[in-house]
Amino acid sequence: MQLRSAGYYVSMEDKRFRYLEKFLRTAAYPRILVFCDSNTRRNCLPFLQGAVKQLRAAPVHVMPAGERHKTLEQAEKCWDFLLAQGADRSTLLVCVGGGVVCDLGGFAASTFKRGIPFIHIPTTLLAMADASVGGKTGIDFRSYKNLVGTITQPAGVFINPGFLRTLSPRHLRNGMAEIIKAALIGSQALWNKLKEAGHFTPDMTDALIEASVKVKNKIVSRDPLERNVRKLLNFGHTAGHAIESYYLGKKNEVLHGEAIAMGMCVELCLGTLLRRTQAQAEEGILSFFKKHYKLRPFPAKEITALIRLMQHDKKNRNGRLNFTLVEKPGAASINNEATEAMVRRAFQRYNEFLKSPGKHDFA
Ligand SMILES: NC(=O)c1ccc[n+]([C@@H]2O[C@H](COP(=O)([O-])OP(=O)(O)OC[C@H]3O[C@@H](n4cnc5c(N)ncnc54)[C@H](O)[C@@H]3O)[C@@H](O)[C@H]2O)c1
Repeated sequence: MQLRSAGYYVSMEDKRFRYLEKFLRTAAYPRILVFCDSNTRRNCLPFLQGAVKQLRAAPVHVMPAGERHKTLEQAEKCWDFLLAQGADRSTLLVCVGGGVVCDLGGFAASTFKRGIPFIHIPTTLLAMADASVGGKTGIDFRSYKNLVGTITQPAGVFINPGFLRTLSPRHLRNGMAEIIKAALIGSQALWNKLKEAGHFTPDMTDALIEASVKVKNKIVSRDPLERNVRKLLNFGHTAGHAIESYYLGKKNEVLHGEAIAMGMCVELCLGTLLRRTQAQAEEGILSFFKKHYKLRPFPAKEITALIRLMQHDKKNRNGRLNFTLVEKPGAASINNEATEAMVRRAFQRYNEFLKSPGKHDFA
């Protein structure tokens, strides 16, 4: 599969990386540099370099793995590397990794000398199904998620699901959250497929990645700069980013997709309270999440801290909390405003749901 996106192609590769090989041959960048993290250097880079000869001699910069390193300090180290290598606007940066490498590498490239070209070779399910597509780059700053960043499209995205073989089940479930989000905001058919499957298995991933990328690509191609419909993709992310930031670096840290899964649940509860989400849809979707994810309750003190974090969400306007809400699977709306009191009630409703053993018995 090759999908045309906002000025570049998203290609589904097999083990020979034919699209990537052809892209590098045709574009003929005079200089190619590679950016990865400590895990993808070990698990992914040797295979990639074995398959694509143009990457064998490319200098490599390695960042430490994990969200806690998606920082200005690591962006600086990447800029230092680009500088030391004499990178200029004819140099290509190849980002090989999960969402952190794609976001940080894209950010470093899009700001260095006001922008050098970069491509993504995503290696986690989350990055394949979501993060590598659409051109959002960035770093976390002062405990806020993606506070500093750019929207700059990559020159190409090359997805090889073969990399998922070394990914842990926890990280597979993590990536699945963004696929569920794609279904809920834009594809009833994908939602039905997820529900029918019952549980996630590796043989489902190719089809799910394709379906998810198609939903995202359709939206970002219409609105690359997030002026309107692109906000659909933020479903679950207003609450979810706050949850991810709150626990970042703590003993009970949550992964991005896990936080977004909980964020989607809270925002479904909010949608019901605001009469935007259909009751039946809320119940069915929440039960699905409860089955597949370890959802944690939020005590009152944490809810206050989470709402404080949400006040810095990029979608807010005039200081008002702004949400994308789902009416039913495949149908969502943007720019729903909610008061702090209402958001607090949504967290409480979510907590009630976690306590309830079955259907219909939460407030
Ligand atoms: N730009 C966007 O549109 C967008 C969309 C969604 C999420 N994101 C961002 O993506 C990030 C989360 O991405 P993630 O979940 O991929 O996290 P990640 O990049 O930290 O990867 C998760 C872990 O898996 C390891 N890893 C990567 N590939 C591997 C492989 N093939 N085998 C073994 N280990 C491997 C990584 O080293 C890391 O330890 C968050 O920062 C989030 O904000 C961005």
